[in-house]
Amino acid sequence: MMFDSDTKALYEQLQGTGLTRQKLNDLRVYLSYIGENASMYRPIPFEQLEYLLHYLLIECKIVPGNTKILDLGSGHGFPLAVFSAAGFHAYGVDDDEELVRESAREIKKKVSEIDGLALIHEPQIICADYYSEDFPDMSFKDGTTPKDMDVFFCYFYEESPWKKHEEVVLASLTYAKTGAIFLAEHYNFSEDLLREHGFSPIDPERSISYLKKC
Ligand SMILES: C[S@@+](CC[C@H](N)C(=O)[O-])C[C@H]1O[C@@H](n2cnc3c(N)ncnc32)[C@H](O)[C@@H]1O
Repeated sequence: MMFDSDTKALYEQLQGTGLTRQKLNDLRVYLSYIGENASMYRPIPFEQLEYLLHYLLIECKIVPGNTKILDLGSGHGFPLAVFSAAGFHAYGVDDDEELVRESAREIKKKVSEIDGLALIHEPQIICADYYSEDFPDMSFKDGTTPKDMDVFFCYFYEESPWKKHEEVVLASLTYAKTGAIFLAEHYNFSEDLLREHGFSPIDPERSISYLKKC
């Protein structure tokens, strides 16, 4: 949960990017553009994404300009647009070809339509199955591979139709580099399993969904 002081600290930190609470919300609204599949592909709720940003920028003191973040299943691209507008080097992967094409186009269009907002680094999105064996070595346009990522982000809501066995997602993260942070919302990973894969909770008092590879 975010207190008013957290929200204030976050947007003060983001001041140079032009990203305000209102503009972040505008992005969420604009990027829910996929009509009939909107509920299936529904994006991460606004407050949760805001919380993750606060977590990365304020609590972990991460500098977005030095940070590569990968959205595993980037969908409509709402988180990608926000990460990019906040100055991160943002990367996305989704196995839905149409969604990859549309999200790349829409992110560019919508961000440019919001006054005072810019894509500091244009997000790069590839169409792939992130469970596949060759995924860790796949290159984005700038040569970056999933192995180079500093932060991984993955969001599924409770009733998502996609397979989401914790072992499979974790196996896909065995290639993460030392120090990588893994943000997974709505998972109930077992702590033992996470430790087996080299991840440990950043703050044991908190949800185990925020982890760092030691
Ligand atoms: C609930 S949406 C999340 C969208 C976005 N990350 C967000 O938070 O707004 C989950 C996305 O994961 C994608 N997805 C599911 N399984 C996948 C897989 N094995 N490889 C790549 N993408 C996958 C789906 O196509 C869908 O767009």
